[in-house]
Amino acid sequence: PDVPVLTIDGPSGSGKGTISRLVANALGWHYLDSGALYRAVGLAAAWESVDLSDAEAVATCARRTKLAFKGGDKNSEPRLLVNGVDATDEIRTETAGAAASAIAALPEVRDALLDVQRNFRKLPGLVADGRDMGTVIFPDAQVKVFLDASAEERAQRRYKQLKNKGISVTLAGLLGEIVARDARDANRAIAPLKAASDAVVIDTTGLDIDTVVAQVLSLMTPR
Ligand code: C5P
Repeated sequence: PDVPVLTIDGPSGSGKGTISRLVANALGWHYLDSGALYRAVGLAAAWESVDLSDAEAVATCARRTKLAFKGGDKNSEPRLLVNGVDATDEIRTETAGAAASAIAALPEVRDALLDVQRNFRKLPGLVADGRDMGTVIFPDAQVKVFLDASAEERAQRRYKQLKNKGISVTLAGLLGEIVARDARDANRAIAPLKAASDAVVIDTTGLDIDTVVAQVLSLMTPR
């Protein structure tokens, strides 16, 4: 509890990743991309042909999978090594996102990742990005933010992101996937996507990145 934590939760495409990385950089704090961990476990399970509906098997896979972030700064996301294999690009595919969302609904898997996530809490501080950072993983966080944006805007952002990476997708397809994933994440029994009661909600629809970063940083100045 001596180590300060800023949690940034929200649906996919709300700008969490970009904003969190920039804020962590501005503060000189560590950064946890918890979604990348779920994506990595989803991917590892797929690589090992683990039955995604077998909770114990996926949890065993989660506990066995070696996850390591390397590098990363305000301009680039850290590389993620999954069992020593660089999976940075592969975890961003919609296939990995869907696998992540499926295995993230399993309590055994969430348990397996609990300590992995809490171990990121180190001085001088941590910016934690995800769905349940403020509600479940770091309920005692000093500042909690919930970023939102319309589904259409989030689909647009994801579309540009994937296109820049040379991944070919359609906007309509992405919108459908985002709406389906939101529903799954919001309606699951365990750690559903929702703002902590003490979170500051920022709707980023129509806002540029710098504006949102400034708003989040303004919450960090002691009042
Ligand atoms: O944030 P991102 O889109 O990378 O997350 C991928 C999936 O991982 C989400 O759809 C969600 O199901 C799951 N997730 C989660 N809890 C978190 C982060 C991600 O359940 N803290």
